Amino acid sequence: MLPRYLKPALSVAQQGAKRLSTSARCNHKVAVLGASGGIGQPLSLLLKESPLITELSLYDIVNTPGVAADLSHINTGSKVKGYTGPDELKDSVKGAQLVIIPAGVPRKPGMTRDDLFDTNASIVRDLTKAIAEVAPKAIIAIISNPVNSTVPIASEVLKKAGVYDPKRVFGVTTLDVVRANTFIAEAKGLDPQKVNVPVIGGHSGVTIIPLISQSKPAVSFPEDKLKALTVRIQEAGTEVVKAKAGTGSA
Ligand code: LMR
Repeated sequence: MLPRYLKPALSVAQQGAKRLSTSARCNHKVAVLGASGGIGQPLSLLLKESPLITELSLYDIVNTPGVAADLSHINTGSKVKGYTGPDELKDSVKGAQLVIIPAGVPRKPGMTRDDLFDTNASIVRDLTKAIAEVAPKAIIAIISNPVNSTVPIASEVLKKAGVYDPKRVFGVTTLDVVRANTFIAEAKGLDPQKVNVPVIGGHSGVTIIPLISQSKPAVSFPEDKLKALTVRIQEAGTEVVKAKAGTGSA
């Protein structure tokens, strides 16, 4: 028998559990725009593993039926739907709570992220226009480079449409944090999963600012090593682009 003084706590817990199970039943639609590409495909695969998603909407200008058919065989709860070409864009996004944008072209060796601007800026602009129209409350996570420019472009499109909320538009720069953690862990012989280095700023060259002094656990390096690690973190994308030799980026 539960002591009387614990009954209010039990009731709160039951209400919380009910709310959670109700929200688990809600529709959580996630759309990936650029789902057939080098980032879009593995990203969609990872999303299909998530128990939080009920509908996974895969949009691209080509090849989405195949990607969607493939991922739909994975034995998790979300329903996968493929959408192809601009005529199907709005349907792919409609009602999504989260829209992730890896669409666009990747760098080739010798290019900077800014060199992608001419192609990727208009792609992100057009995708964001559709989001503003049919999913104005969606959280938008932008991966397409140059992230330092595509995020402001998306923001301006949303402002023009009267639906801009700065808390809902993100540039995805997790790569920089992951790389910082890995390189610092390697240098100190630590478990990379237990290292956390905050990285602030943007996602290009010197705008990537790893705060190695704020690393957890705390680490210290001589000045020259610190500089070399900072540059390696800032140039890690270029390292991958070179290694892939024209077949893509990270
Ligand atoms: C990265 O950091 O790896 C990505 O932004 C892709 C690129 O072109 O560097």
